[in-house]
Formats: sequence, structure tokens, C-alpha cells
Amino acid sequence: MKKKVIIVGGEGNGGVIASCIEDNQKRYNDYEWEIVGFINDFEEQVCGYPVIGPLSSIKRFLDTTDYYFSWGIHLVGRNVLTEKMYREANIPKNRLATIIHKSAFVAKNAIIEPGVFIMANCYVGPQAIIGSSSLIMANSMIGHNIEMGELCHCSVGAIMTGYSKMGICSDIAVGSTILAYKKIGAFAMLGAASLATHDIPDYEIHVGSPAKFLKRIKED
Ligand SMILES: CC(C)(COP(=O)(O)OP(=O)(O)OC[C@H]1O[C@@H](n2cnc3c(N)ncnc32)[C@H](O)[C@@H]1OP(=O)(O)O)[C@@H](O)C(=O)NCCC(=O)NCCS
Repeated sequence: MKKKVIIVGGEGNGGVIASCIEDNQKRYNDYEWEIVGFINDFEEQVCGYPVIGPLSSIKRFLDTTDYYFSWGIHLVGRNVLTEKMYREANIPKNRLATIIHKSAFVAKNAIIEPGVFIMANCYVGPQAIIGSSSLIMANSMIGHNIEMGELCHCSVGAIMTGYSKMGICSDIAVGSTILAYKKIGAFAMLGAASLATHDIPDYEIHVGSPAKFLKRIKED
């Protein structure tokens, strides 16, 4: 039976989530999810789907429907604000949609918490733990025994080597790599095409190979 999902966000991450659902339907005959529309404070439609309300309307949809929600807001470099909006939305775990592209490999003993999104051609290794509402974009390699906190974002082609960690609401940008046993701190970020050879402290952005401190993230 199709479950109805509202995507929270815009055409960036939200549009990617919609395209995953569409592709699972079209090429893999997988009709687990049906898109009702988007929640967005600024637009009237996103990628051809109606915007059915602003962020403040989430509670009404929780109370009056059985719709699920896919959280697609992840503001790069403004991770504290992202987490604040997520907490305010207060979507219970049993109403979060877990959406995985059919071409992704997910080891059977990996733990995928509610609300996770995994796009095409990703690999998630054995005993990996992926926190709620984390976004794993196409071609990302998520190694064995990694620990990813809630609300993280792995951009296209990012790599977490085995036993590495990501703190809550942290980012690894396009084409970046965390070496084994290293940690990206809470609300921190590893920049595009960068290599984390050391732990990155909470709230800091590091770039380059090996990655060095660039600046702190905005804490608004
Ligand atoms: C980390 C990041 C946010 C920094 O962006 P920024 O704050 O706008 O930084 P700037 O472009 O002003 O660059 C500041 C300096 O850092 C350097 N720098 C920025 N990003 C770098 C990177 N990834 N690797 C190496 N050096 C980098 C710049 O060359 C510049 O150096 P300079 O002062 O010597 O000229 C950006 O590099 C990044 O990774 N963005 C995320 C991309 C992504 O994955 N988006 C999601 C996909 S849709």
C-alpha cells in the first residue's frame, strides 16, 4: 500500500528526494511512497508538486492526517539553524519517512533510523549506524562500523571510511573523505573535495587535503 509523504524543503534536497521516489516507481515498480506535496515557507510549487503549507502547518498535518514527512532542509554552513527548525517541527519518529533508492546497497545489519534518505548508487556497510533524518546523496560510500548522528548531510560522492563518525547535524561536502576513526564534530563541516585526517571540532568548517580550519559555522 502506498504511504503518503510530505517533503519538507525546496528543490535542492527536497527535489532530489522527490526524484528518488519517482525513479523507484518508474524503473523499479516500487510504490511504497506517494508524494502529497511540499512544505515550504517561500514557494507555491516545487518540482511540479504543490506546496501545501509553510513549516508552521506541520503540526496541523500531524494532527489531522496520517501522512509521513521527509525532512529535506539542510542549510550548508548554517547547521544550527537547520537543527532549530527541525526541533521546532517536532515530527515524531513514527511519522518520518525512510526513503532508499533501489540501487543503493545497505548491509542487512546496518541500522537505519527513521527519516533517513539514501540516494542512488550509495553503499552503506555492515554495522553502520545512520541517525534519524540524515541525507545521504548519490554515490556516497558509508563504510562499515561508522556512526552518523541525527540530521547529517553527506553530499554527492562523499566517503566515510570504516569506524569514522559524524556528530549531530554535521556535513561532509561533495567529494570529501573522512579517514578511518576520525570524527566530524556536531554542527561541523568538511568542505568540498577535502580529506579529514584529524578530528574536526564541533561548529568548525575545515577544508583542503589534509583539511585545515577555515572558519566557524554561523550560529544563528
Ligand atoms: C566549505 C565551503 C562552504 C566554504 O565556502 P566559503 O565559505 O564560501 O569559502 P570561500 O569560497 O569564501 O573560500 C574561502 C577560502 O577557502 C578556500 N576554500 C574554500 N573551500 C575550499 C575547499 N573545499 N577546499 C580547499 N579550499 C577551499 C578558498 O579557496 C578560499 O581561499 P583563499 O582565501 O586563499 O582564496 C565550500 O567550500 C563547500 O564545501 N561548500 C559545500 C559544497 C557542497 O557540497 N554543497 C552541497 C551540494 S549541492
